[in-house]
Amino acid sequence: MCGIVAYVGHQEAYPVIIKGLKRLEYRGYDSAGIALINGGLNVVKKKGKVVNLEEYAENTNLNGHVGIGHTRWATHGIPSDANSHPHTSGDGTIALVHNGIIENYLTLKSDLEAKGHIFKSETDTEVLVHFIEDIRNQLKCDLEEAVRVALTRVVGAFAIAVITTNEPTVLVAARRGSPLAVGIGEGEFILASDITPIVEYTSKVIYPKDNEMVVVNGVDYKLVDLNNNVLEPYVKELDFELASIEKGGFEHFMLKEIMEQPRTFHDCLRGRVKADESIIKLGGIRDYIDDIRSARRIMIIACGTSYHAALVAKYLFEDLAGIPTDVDFASEFRYRKVVIDDQTVVLGISQSGETADTIVALEKAKAKGAKVLGICNVVGSSIARMTDAGIYTHVGVEIGVASTKAFTGQLAIIYMLALLIAKEKGNIDYTKYKYLVHELTQISSKIEEALKSSYSAVERVSAACKNASSMIYLGRGLNYPIALEGALKLKEITYIHAEGYPAAEMKHGPIALIDENMFVVFIAPKDKTYEKIVSNIQEVKSRSGKVIAIVTKGDRTISEMADYTIEIPETDKLFTPILNIIPLQLLAYQVAKLRDCNIDQPRNLAKSVTVE
Ligand code: AGP
Ligand code: GLU
Repeated sequence: MCGIVAYVGHQEAYPVIIKGLKRLEYRGYDSAGIALINGGLNVVKKKGKVVNLEEYAENTNLNGHVGIGHTRWATHGIPSDANSHPHTSGDGTIALVHNGIIENYLTLKSDLEAKGHIFKSETDTEVLVHFIEDIRNQLKCDLEEAVRVALTRVVGAFAIAVITTNEPTVLVAARRGSPLAVGIGEGEFILASDITPIVEYTSKVIYPKDNEMVVVNGVDYKLVDLNNNVLEPYVKELDFELASIEKGGFEHFMLKEIMEQPRTFHDCLRGRVKADESIIKLGGIRDYIDDIRSARRIMIIACGTSYHAALVAKYLFEDLAGIPTDVDFASEFRYRKVVIDDQTVVLGISQSGETADTIVALEKAKAKGAKVLGICNVVGSSIARMTDAGIYTHVGVEIGVASTKAFTGQLAIIYMLALLIAKEKGNIDYTKYKYLVHELTQISSKIEEALKSSYSAVERVSAACKNASSMIYLGRGLNYPIALEGALKLKEITYIHAEGYPAAEMKHGPIALIDENMFVVFIAPKDKTYEKIVSNIQEVKSRSGKVIAIVTKGDRTISEMADYTIEIPETDKLFTPILNIIPLQLLAYQVAKLRDCNIDQPRNLAKSVTVE
């Protein structure tokens, strides 16, 4: 994962880079570091978050107009000062920051050690900077050429930024697999892992492709490939509101993002659903509707929260559109023999569009001849670019590491897609279709209602279960994935162990865990399994478990049995997952707050997992 930032220009580089690193901290917060050129090379780096680095660097002279910065999510070597980036060459003239993994670092390292190189860290990254130094010494070339040659020989994924005291106005950056955006300002360049550190300074951005390098020299720049061909850069004009990456008065990004969901859900539907005419238009996949309609099978690939959205999609694609649908964890799909052909439509779901497991799995599906479509949030991300076509969720930047509004955005797309395909296939009665499209357009105001009506009930529940050591989440059918997602949210930000199960599976094992200390969350909408859920609640009660029930507004039966009840507004049973996840997101948030956890940046996690 990691975030990289680099600056060359008329401003002091340090404050620009520090601010950029704070914006990128969601990508990793094991350590932070900055290298600046000011005559010599000035490197400050420290284990922990960017504020630690700031405190540590307070009395250091950090002037300079050329610099690179890094915020780390460790892959090779523990989080420590020594393993923090930037890493420097043996002679101390080159500094490098890196996001990704150099897979052949051990071979390179032993070759370099044989030549006398001495390493100060356990990282793969330090090997790369020594390798560049070695090539530069051998070829007696400039930094650009040394980086280029090195990159033709490394295996793995990277976005790097490199500077050297020998060429004090030069910055070389490159990418393969990991993201990189290059901001072109007036007399300045800001490079970063995403556009958030850039938007303040310029709206002109280049997204280099794999195996491309950007070389900045003072006020000039060029884009080249690894064969030394100079390329014509495509400069994109960004349309981005700075407010979207600020907390806007909320204590945490996660709470802001939970609260934004009525609007973000609406934004997903905007321009795509016309309720009065019952029309759904998904422009991004317009040319692939026939392929989906006639597909023998749909295969969905995703990780984490996106995987839970995929499970909801399976249910809907089969129920509404009648297309057999399988869902696989990207990492599992990648390493097993899969039966797919050109009659299979493969759908990748990813908020970031940069998840390495999902990228490689989709590449595999493509190689096997499947049509590959994507649902992504980050515009221009790797998955958005590599798929044949796709649909953006348009929920805006999601900064909290625990995904919330991106999940409901993914659901919005999935519902539209399932309804559209069902209609195109003639698999749904038109009156029912019209009614469901209308219901879908009512969901954003019901999310708003759910946020309001559940807030204080969730606060009560949170106070009760804040010291739990384990919790079970149960749901059936469409709401089974919501049980998984509710449990994932709790695990991620409160560090309380939690498991989601299909409610009926409880009696096949997890029931052994129930005692007076166990909190069990039941997702209990009024659908065809309602009576069965009531029985499952009784089973927990009779073993003294504590029941937290998410019920439809006005449900007396379950309210009387449960220890705690949280109500959600009434909707068609098909749409209950979208409303049920709302109080579960709030529950995780409130419990994490009571436990004084780092909500936006939970331990060991990072927003996008760009390593396999
Ligand atoms: C969500 O809360 C998680 N942090 C994580 O599971 C995430 O959903 C997963 O890593 C997939 O990310 P993506 O959607 O960006 O591909
Ligand atoms: N492999 C590098 C390290 O461990 C970079 C990590 C990353 O980008 O996730 O420091």
